[in-house]
Order: sequence, then C-alpha cells, then structure tokens
Amino acid sequence: TNDHKVAPSILAADFANLQRDIEMINASAADWIHVDIMDGVFVPNISFGFPVMKAVKQHAKKPLDVHLMITDPDRYLADFKNAGADHITVHYEACTHLHRTIHAIKDLGCVAGVALNPHTPVALLDDIIADVDLVLIMSVNPGFGGQSFIENTYKKIKELKALSAERNPNLFIEIDGGVSLQNSAKLLEAGANALVAGNFVFSSKDQIATIAELKK
Ligand code: DX5
Ligand code: ZN
Repeated sequence: TNDHKVAPSILAADFANLQRDIEMINASAADWIHVDIMDGVFVPNISFGFPVMKAVKQHAKKPLDVHLMITDPDRYLADFKNAGADHITVHYEACTHLHRTIHAIKDLGCVAGVALNPHTPVALLDDIIADVDLVLIMSVNPGFGGQSFIENTYKKIKELKALSAERNPNLFIEIDGGVSLQNSAKLLEAGANALVAGNFVFSSKDQIATIAELKK
C-alpha cells in the first residue's frame, strides 16, 4: 500500500541542527512530523517542551503529530495547540476522563488520538473508539527511542483493525517504536495505516531515501 502515513520522530533528530532536520522531513515523502513530549513522570525521561515545539513549527511544512507521554494532559491541551500541534495523542493510562479529554482536543480543532502502552489491551477502547480519530499502539515501552520492537503488537493491530472496520472505518492506526523496513510491510498487512520511525530514519545514511522506502 502507499496510502499509509509515515511520521519521522524528531526525538531522534540532531537537536543542534533541528532546522536542518525539519527541512529534510519537509523535502521527503513523510506525511507528518512526530513530536514526542515526555514529562519525566509518566515516562522515565524528559524530551522537550513548548519553546522547542514552537521553533519546530516555524519551519515545519507538514502537520505536527504530537504524542503526549505526560500525566494529566488536560492541563496543557490548549498550550500544545498554541505551540503548533495538529494532532494531539494522549495516553489511555494517563487519562481518568478520557472521553472528556478526547472531546477537548476536538474542540481545539485538532485530530484526537489515544495511545496504548504495550500491556494495555485494545478491548479497553470499546467505548471510546467511535470518538477518536487516531489510535497509537506503542510497540515499545514509551520513554526512549531506539528500543526493540515488541512482537505482540501484530495481534493488537489485528484486533484494532477489526474494531475499526466495525465502528470507525476512517481511524488512523499508528504504530510507534522500533519500526523499520524489517517490520513495516507486516505492520501494514496487519492493518496499520500510519508508521512512526525515529532511529531507523535518523541513523540511516540517506534519510530521504529511507522515508521513501517506508512510504512504499
Ligand atoms: C518512544 C517514542 C517514539 C520514539 C520512536 O517513547 O514515543 O515515538 O521516538 O523511536 P524509534 O523509532 O527509534 O523506536
Ligand atoms: Zn511517539
């Protein structure tokens, strides 16, 4: 397929050359720019915040796909919108009132997503699936780039694809963590339609060509 989305994750970019790396993504076949926000509480790492996001937005010619690995995201949704977010994805595990949070994201005019940690079952989405635009299945434990892919992800994609076919056919099924050309075809075959890739893109010699390969 080639109607799937590809979203390079700038967590793996060179932060001292962020403009250069954003321009590389602009010039590539990538659809979205994946922006990982980590608060050091929900995940054991801190990435970057609003000033960096705003700087990215100034150069980005593609939508910012923002993945919030933070507790109590409701407090900051408007700030992320203001910093340039086009998609806002919150973690299922971080939201006590997920339905309210999803609708708050939509009210801001953003694509609304929910992310699942590797241990969180797809079945828990049963009563929210019709309300979301995007589900992000974590294929590593969130917090760091460059980790190895968890094989149980394929089963979860198939379950989500079935749920989506029945209840939300336009759903984005996005996979994040350890994605490479070794697993991309199998992920798409299982039902994924959006792939995030950090290290695989940024550690490759020809990043534009690598993105084009992921897009095939
Ligand atoms: C992990 C982040 C991912 C990460 C992916 O916590 O959510 O988006 O950047 O990086 P790779 O592709 O290197 O696993
Ligand atoms: Zn991510």
